[in-house]
Amino acid sequence: MATFISHSPAETQSLGERWGRAAQSGLVIGLSGELGAGKTELVKGLARGLGATGRVHSPTFTLVNEYDGGRLRLFHLDLYRLETRGQILSAGLEEFLQREDVTVIEWAEKIYDLRSTIYDLKKVQIEILSETERRISYDDSGA
Ligand SMILES: Nc1ncnc2c1ncn2[C@@H]1O[C@H](COP(=O)(O)OP(=O)(O)OP(=O)(O)O)[C@@H](O)[C@H]1O
Ligand SMILES: [Mg+2]
Repeated sequence: MATFISHSPAETQSLGERWGRAAQSGLVIGLSGELGAGKTELVKGLARGLGATGRVHSPTFTLVNEYDGGRLRLFHLDLYRLETRGQILSAGLEEFLQREDVTVIEWAEKIYDLRSTIYDLKKVQIEILSETERRISYDDSGA
C-alpha cells in the first residue's frame, strides 16, 4: 500500500489524473471512504487523465455513468444505494469487472466479500483527516 496526503480537492484530482494517464485497459479502481471523503473528486481527475470529455458527477439515480472521448472509456459506478446482498448480486456488476475499459467504483467494499477475485483491481481507501486533508491509501502493485 502507498499513502498520499492530499491537502485540497485539486491535489486529490491530480492523483487521480496521474492514474488516468497510466491506466491500462481492464483496470478496475475500487474507492472506499465515508460520505464526502473525496471519491468523486478522485474520479474527476481520473477522467481528465484519460482525456475523457463530459462532466463527472456521481451516478446517483443510475448505477453507472460512462465518459467517452478519452484514450479508454471510463465507467463510473456508485454502489451507495445498493444495500442488500441480493441487490448487489443482481445489479449486473460482473460485466464492468471484466471490460476492456477502465472502471471506477465508489463504495467498492460492498462487493469485495461477494467476489473472491477481481482481476486487475486497485483498492483505494480515503480517510478524512481534517476539513481539507485526506489520507489516500492505495495498491501500488500492478496497474
Ligand atoms: N483534500 C481533499 N480531497 C478531496 N475533497 C476534498 C478535500 N478537501 C476538501 N474536500 C471536499 O470534500 C468533498 C468531497 O466530495 P466528494 O463528492 O468527492 O466525496 P465522495 O467521497 O464522492 O462522497 P459521496 O460518498 O457522497 O459520493 C468536496 O466538497 C471537496 O471540495
Ligand atoms: Mg461520490
